Formats: sequence, C-alpha cells, structure tokens
Amino acid sequence: CAADDMEYRADIGVFGGSGFYSFLEDVEEITVPTPYGAPSDKIALARVGDKRVAFLPRHGKDHRYPPHRIPYRANLYAMKELGVKQIIAPTASGSLQPHIKPGDFVVCDQFVDRTWGREDTFFEGPVVRHVSAAYPYCHRLRKLAVETGREQGITIHDGGTVVVIQGPRFSTKAESRWFSSMGWEVINMTQYPEVILARELGMCYVNIALITDYDAGLEGRDDIAPVTEGEVFRVFKENNDKVRNLIMAMIEKMDVNVECDCCK
Ligand code: ADE
Repeated sequence: CAADDMEYRADIGVFGGSGFYSFLEDVEEITVPTPYGAPSDKIALARVGDKRVAFLPRHGKDHRYPPHRIPYRANLYAMKELGVKQIIAPTASGSLQPHIKPGDFVVCDQFVDRTWGREDTFFEGPVVRHVSAAYPYCHRLRKLAVETGREQGITIHDGGTVVVIQGPRFSTKAESRWFSSMGWEVINMTQYPEVILARELGMCYVNIALITDYDAGLEGRDDIAPVTEGEVFRVFKENNDKVRNLIMAMIEKMDVNVECDCCK
C-alpha cells in the first residue's frame, strides 16, 4: 500500500511487546515502506469505536527481532506516515524495587539509557535538532493511563524510572543491585530509543510497563530466583487481558484532535 493513501490512516498507534502480538479485531494489514527500511512487521489497522488505530508488534509477530535489532526508526516513521499522533507502548518489564510486584503496572516517567549502538535519532544531518529529553513521556497520556488503570482495579504506579539495558541477556546480580540502589524502579530492553524517536517526530508517547519479574532477585530474599525468558512470557500472557482492556479503555477516552506540548 501507499501509506499516504487516505484510506490508510490512523489516529492512535499501539506497539506490542513480548507476549503481546495481536490486539485489534477485523484488521486490514498493510506494508509501510520507510526511508529507514521495513518496520518490524505489517501494520494492522482497525477501528476502535470512532478511532482509527494502528498496531505493530515491535519484535515482529514471530518475535524475530531481538531488542537491539528492532528497526525502531522504521517503526516510528511508519506510524507517523499513517498520521498517528499518539502512541501507547506496553512493555514486559522487570521490577527493581520490592513494592513494585509482578502483575503490577508502572506508567514510567523517566528513563536511564544503558544501550549502545542503536540508531537513536532521525537527525543525522544536514538537518540537526537537539530535542529535550528532560520529560520524555507525554504527561497527558500518563495521567489517562493511571486514571483508567485505577478505574479498572489494576495496581498501577504513577511514575517510575526505567533502566533500559542492551539485552538480549538479562542483568547480572551486581548490575541489578546497582540499578536498585540508585532508586530506579523498572528495567526493560526496548524503551530506548523508542520513546525518544517518538519525541523527535513530535508524537505523544506513553509506556505501560507490565511487571513480569524481580529481575536478578531482591536483596535478602533467597526465595526469589533470577528472571527467565519463560517467566516473562508466562506472566505477560496471564495479564494479556488486563493490558488489552486498559488500552482499549484509554483509546475510547482519547481525544484525537488534542493539542499537546509533545508536538512542539
Ligand atoms: N523484560 C522483562 N523483564 C525484564 C528484566 N528483568 N530485564 C530486562 N528486560 C525485561
């Protein structure tokens, strides 16, 4: 398809993460080429009520892209091409603090980037811009996510710093202890550069971190084993309906004509 064809437009974008590969019903799947190569997969388009929604699993439907190889720029560019202005980005994530438990949700408000070698900007020159990353997440969508989650009886933490590691391996005990001792709350492999590329394109972006594990374990808790890949997928699968219902309810409430500071 040609993404500039008016038939193929979307107001809201959703990125699927590990264990979250399909979301919409009655979809039309389209291929959106970009100057940054192909996105992770075809993009599914469908209506949710009166809103046009685009869904893209960031690892691909068959989980073919590890976190450091995800074509982040193509994914964000394709959403922008479709007309998307607001992005909801669920992620499977680990907890670094005892009070944030597996099954909880965190709506992150800060990140610490520990990745390397990822293509993390659209401004490679000759056009050069330096965007502010002080507040990388959309405050309006964050508020909506927290309010909607609480209405649904979800344990949802308002704010948290996500440490983004390179992956695909999980952290050592020492790394995990360091991140926890810094007071950071959440750990994940894909929030960077996804959030900052959205910012560079002037799109609103909110992360909904579903906590699947306690990373390499907790201090003084020998009964908590370090995270495994299987555990991440299992816990995400168990909570799939909660994630889906939250996002659907958010979409229903979202204003597609909103003016937000994120586009400045
Ligand atoms: N995704 C889910 N759990 C994680 C963890 N503990 N570290 C990094 N990414 C994760």
